Amino acid sequence: MSSEHVYLLDTEALDSFALKGRSTPQIANANGLTVRRVMQIIRDTAKLPFDQLRILDFACGEGVYAIEAALRGSEVVAFDVRNERMDEGVKVKERFGLDNLRFEQTDIRNVDVGSYGGADVVLFLGILYHLHHRDVFKVVRNIYDMCRQFVIIDTHIALHGRIKIEHDGRSYEGRQYREHADDDPEEVRRSRLLASLDNSLSFWFTKESLFRLLNDVGFTSVFECNVPLEPFKLENRITIIAYKGEPVKVSSYPWVNDKTEDQIREVVSLNHTLSHFGVKQFVKTAVNGVLHRFGLELRRI
Ligand SMILES: C[S@@+](CC[C@H](N)C(=O)[O-])C[C@H]1O[C@@H](n2cnc3c(N)ncnc32)[C@H](O)[C@@H]1O
Repeated sequence: MSSEHVYLLDTEALDSFALKGRSTPQIANANGLTVRRVMQIIRDTAKLPFDQLRILDFACGEGVYAIEAALRGSEVVAFDVRNERMDEGVKVKERFGLDNLRFEQTDIRNVDVGSYGGADVVLFLGILYHLHHRDVFKVVRNIYDMCRQFVIIDTHIALHGRIKIEHDGRSYEGRQYREHADDDPEEVRRSRLLASLDNSLSFWFTKESLFRLLNDVGFTSVFECNVPLEPFKLENRITIIAYKGEPVKVSSYPWVNDKTEDQIREVVSLNHTLSHFGVKQFVKTAVNGVLHRFGLELRRI
């Protein structure tokens, strides 16, 4: 028999989840599938049961994920820079006596381990793609520092890398997305409840670059979630789980250990070239590279 059960919420709460910051119910049904997916990931992969988890929900909106986790007994802190939708979540918390849930009006760009401590699970849903590339690296570093087990990211991605941005000597590809016109006043920007707070442009990583960034920051394994299913999820929207574990050491191929990813790439690309062309061809090409400068050529080895 399942130990799962439905907590009976009231119409006011269900209506606010159905609206999701818009004036008419629209994506509510589809959003229910993302809520199911996120809760299932936590249930299936957290090392502790819900009632022993500390969870941080970044840019929580009305706080539906935070409320779901708090109903299951987790200690949750949820923050959003806007209070319009979050106030709905505060009302639910109060009506249902969820003392284990705290909402705070905060800009997530300033949240770090010093201000909010660590958490077993970090929820980073619908927010990565609202950040400007000036801010995104610091924020991802902060969530890594705060995370004890894993971070769940649900985000738009760029399907093509149209521009490159550099950080710490590394290059990441993606596209820019316009959130506000350059001359939109502050109050207009703030009134767009589902958008970035102030940055006119945000940066959407390609999937490959986002995985590389999570690796560069230190996450030890990163997965894309496909089940629970989300029919009609956009092609450019993904749910990923980034785990913070201890890097393994390999006994069967010791060369892999204690190398940077760039060094590993170098070894593998050399192996690839050798197996592709054969050792003789590889040596011939290398020697001819030198001989050609003197008008000579090696025909056979
Ligand atoms: C698309 S909604 C996602 C809400 C929720 N996480 C969800 O998945 O349903 C984006 C949210 O990010 C919030 N937000 C945007 N920029 C923020 C910032 N710098 N700090 C905190 N919240 C921010 C917005 O106010 C909005 O509630």
